[in-house]
Amino acid sequence: MSSAPLSIGIIGSGAMGAGIAQVVATAGHPVQLLDQNAAALERATASIAANLRKLAEKGKLTQAAADAAAARLHPTANMQDFAACGLVIEAIVEDLAVKQQIFRQVEGIVSAECILASNTSSLSVTSIAAACQRPERFLGIHFFNPAPLMQLVEVIPAVQTRPRLAEEIKLLVQSWGKRPVLAQDTPGFIVNRVARPFYGEAIRILEEGLADMATIDWAMTELGGFRMGPFALMDFIGHDVNYRVTESVFTAFFYDPRYRPSFTQKRLFEAGYYGRKAGRGFYNYAPGAAQPEP
Ligand code: NAI
Repeated sequence: MSSAPLSIGIIGSGAMGAGIAQVVATAGHPVQLLDQNAAALERATASIAANLRKLAEKGKLTQAAADAAAARLHPTANMQDFAACGLVIEAIVEDLAVKQQIFRQVEGIVSAECILASNTSSLSVTSIAAACQRPERFLGIHFFNPAPLMQLVEVIPAVQTRPRLAEEIKLLVQSWGKRPVLAQDTPGFIVNRVARPFYGEAIRILEEGLADMATIDWAMTELGGFRMGPFALMDFIGHDVNYRVTESVFTAFFYDPRYRPSFTQKRLFEAGYYGRKAGRGFYNYAPGAAQPEP
């Protein structure tokens, strides 16, 4: 890879795409941020600008650095703008067929050298790569939410990924101020695999009537030392995303009951109670809504 800052294309400007765009723009890369939904793109652009402003106010970035990062960000609805990108990171819906389709489209636009990556939480990186004409330049780069704050990034080579690409990407991710870890292409990689029982057992404790969710969250944060309890964290991630990940890890482990999704979670997903972003999940986020006490 050359030492000039790579131009980076990001597909999907939701929670993750916007966060990743902020990280790489701050690190000096020109960024093309693409979404099929104009409102999502507008929201992302405004939220990145607001975050950069806050960082400058708090003295965590100089005003000049914040302005430069904002100026590197180019929101777009046109994938042709990816033509000069050296790296494309996809952060759209957690659906294998949709991701495969988007990479077929990307490959029709970018150069043969452009690296392709998915931020998938749980899908097989090898399966997404298999849809590509040049699967050897494909791998997983998995950030955590919120991407500007979370240090960890999992780098996941597919079976087809060319030797040394994962190591090169680890160095690149490090240059963004992150702490990359190499993970194998198994369902949920490292963190989401460990996290499934964290959520699953919390829901089972709730369903069995052993403790209510506020108590479980309180115990895990106040006594367990976790930054967020399982219910608050699931609401933060979003049940649309988290339920799909649970389903996909369960299926990918050949229906191992250790990873079985819960109907409580499925019904929240079906109701559209996606958590914080929807104003309702396990907790009610409507202004003035009473919060359960532990
Ligand atoms: P999100 O729902 O907040 O955002 C997805 C965005 O992609 C939306 O703005 C949507 O309009 C856009 N989109 C969907 N299909 C598209 C297409 N064909 N072309 C262009 N834009 C399209 O989702 P979120 O939470 O950002 O997740 C995205 C990916 O990142 C998923 O694969 C998810 O599993 C993964 N992920 C999510 C984490 C989380 O905590 N939410 C953490 C780490 C990974």
